[in-house]
Amino acid sequence: MRFSALARWGILGVVVIAISAALGFYVHTPSEVDLVPARAQQSAEAPTIGGPFTLLDHDGKTVTDQDFRGRFMLVFFGFTYCPDVCPTSLTTIAEALDMLGKDAGKIAPLFVTVDPERDTPEQMKMYVGHFHPSIIGLTGSLDQIDRAARGYRVYYAKVMEEDGGADDYLMDHTAITYLMGPDGEFRAFFSHDTTPQEIAQRLREFL
Ligand code: NI
Repeated sequence: MRFSALARWGILGVVVIAISAALGFYVHTPSEVDLVPARAQQSAEAPTIGGPFTLLDHDGKTVTDQDFRGRFMLVFFGFTYCPDVCPTSLTTIAEALDMLGKDAGKIAPLFVTVDPERDTPEQMKMYVGHFHPSIIGLTGSLDQIDRAARGYRVYYAKVMEEDGGADDYLMDHTAITYLMGPDGEFRAFFSHDTTPQEIAQRLREFL
């Protein structure tokens, strides 16, 4: 009974759409489309990536996304105990920055930990220093990290080691590097397997 009632409404809907199309109501005329700014169309459809964050830099100073306005941000989430993905990504970012030469100064490379329980500012500072002097390590409270990760649509989860202690765990995490513009808006993203050459070339198009 329920289904047949639904089916009837469905058929009615199709008939209404067909009639509307025939009468020209359903099809947008070009003039209507032109009235909507391209930018508004884009923002209505594309999910936002990024947004505000408040975190602690590797010197223990509170920083927000606003502190980086005027510079591009290259944002990568990970953790210092990461066995392979993070070291690879940070090496790639470091090499891309070196290829840009002086233009690299227009970019703030940010490494945000998803493991703030172990990644203290001191730990972050020591770690990012291994890769590139300009990389800024960011940590914070569990809540601050969670908000930042949500903004960037980054997934992360603690994976406990079997038979290990409370500190024996790894973090599963999204391994995408985001490029944000000087206005803080999303520009591009790089997957984990993007080469330093590819990243440098793409960055040059924006700088
Ligand atoms: Ni990692």
